[in-house]
Amino acid sequence: MNIGEIIKCKRDCQELSTEQIEYFIKEYTCGNIADYQASSLLMAIYLNGMTEREILDLTIAMSKSGEILDLSSIDGVKVDKHSTGGVGDKITMIVMPLVASFGVPVIKMSGRGLGYTQGTADKLEAIPNFKVGLEMDEMIRNVKRIGIALMTQSENIAPADKKLYALRDVTGTVESIPLIVSSVMSKKLAAGADKILLEVTCGSGAFMENEMRARTLAETMVRVGNLAGKETIGVLTNMNQPLGRFCGNALEAKEAIETLKGKGESDVVEVCCVLGAYMLKMAGIGTSIVENMKAIQGKIDSGEGLEKFRELVQRQWGDSRVIDEPERLMTAKYKVPVLIDEDGFVSEIETKNIGQAVVNIGGGRLEKGDTIDYSVGIEVEKKIGDNVKVGDVLLYIHANDEKKAKEQVEFLKKSYKISKKPVEKIKAILDIVENA
Ligand code: URA
Repeated sequence: MNIGEIIKCKRDCQELSTEQIEYFIKEYTCGNIADYQASSLLMAIYLNGMTEREILDLTIAMSKSGEILDLSSIDGVKVDKHSTGGVGDKITMIVMPLVASFGVPVIKMSGRGLGYTQGTADKLEAIPNFKVGLEMDEMIRNVKRIGIALMTQSENIAPADKKLYALRDVTGTVESIPLIVSSVMSKKLAAGADKILLEVTCGSGAFMENEMRARTLAETMVRVGNLAGKETIGVLTNMNQPLGRFCGNALEAKEAIETLKGKGESDVVEVCCVLGAYMLKMAGIGTSIVENMKAIQGKIDSGEGLEKFRELVQRQWGDSRVIDEPERLMTAKYKVPVLIDEDGFVSEIETKNIGQAVVNIGGGRLEKGDTIDYSVGIEVEKKIGDNVKVGDVLLYIHANDEKKAKEQVEFLKKSYKISKKPVEKIKAILDIVENA
């Protein structure tokens, strides 16, 4: 077998065999296949697609390219959660402590931001001293002690994905359903949980802009998860505007704390209640989704979710004083408004641009390894359906470099479309994908 033949097969729209897929993943992971050959195969997959059998084989081969975590020493049903990424998505920081407050063991590995999205690991690190790089034994100890650990992906989880994702990022092959499914699901399978809940984002701030493609992505992930032996449910969420009010690491950490205190934006609370309700159901808790949603809201109202978050911060060496005094989180020097110069109703937001502006002012990485400024970000004042008048503030840019902030103003203003006619507000949850 050789890689040239495998590339030609996919180029000519043939189905790859299990052996060919396993060969590619094994040899690429250990450095025997060059990046230019792997890129060529990725582009052929991007253009010609894969059958469900090929996607499943690719997912399993990638999940086995490193360590598969054994969480069997932790009692209870372990439900993992993953988001396909979006702008202002701080849901993990809120929903995981809420679910853990029911006694469901929570182990969640999160990525760092890349491109225009920010990652949960960076948002947690915006809390002074919070340690996201836990060793496996430390993670297991923490879960046994307080029921929750949030951490970065261990180096040896699906290393094939690490290499392939970096390559996709620079070869125009990110937005491919077979490649996204295998990337996400290989990490989930290797992370060892019993069940998987997926937040599949859709819209102008997500990889899948089109709802039909997002639905196909969700259905494929749900089928692949179930075929791999893990019950999987997908929740389609609307990313046609930023989720919540803030985008940027420390700002989102603060918003997560405020939400756990019962002062959250309605879209964030709704997504947390729905995702949390399904996670509880998968863990065998509750009789219906509606009841579970009320129970999640109850843990916000009683403050138990916040207390679980406090325990998590303390256990992972973070400064838990930020919970009662969020002003202790880093803040930026300047707050530059973006003003609208017409009357009407917000009809569309180019949400990716908001994420990109956060990166441009230093809140994200242009390249892996870049340092980030946790304090900067964007505050969203107007969302779809809002009535605006000349001179109203659409957004505030929180920045430490005033010149860079001002450079974003036109770019951000152009990201808003204004209609003269009233526009309806948009739903945060689009659909639930079960038993696809
Ligand atoms: N998230 C991932 O982990 N992989 C992808 O390919 C896209 C989103």
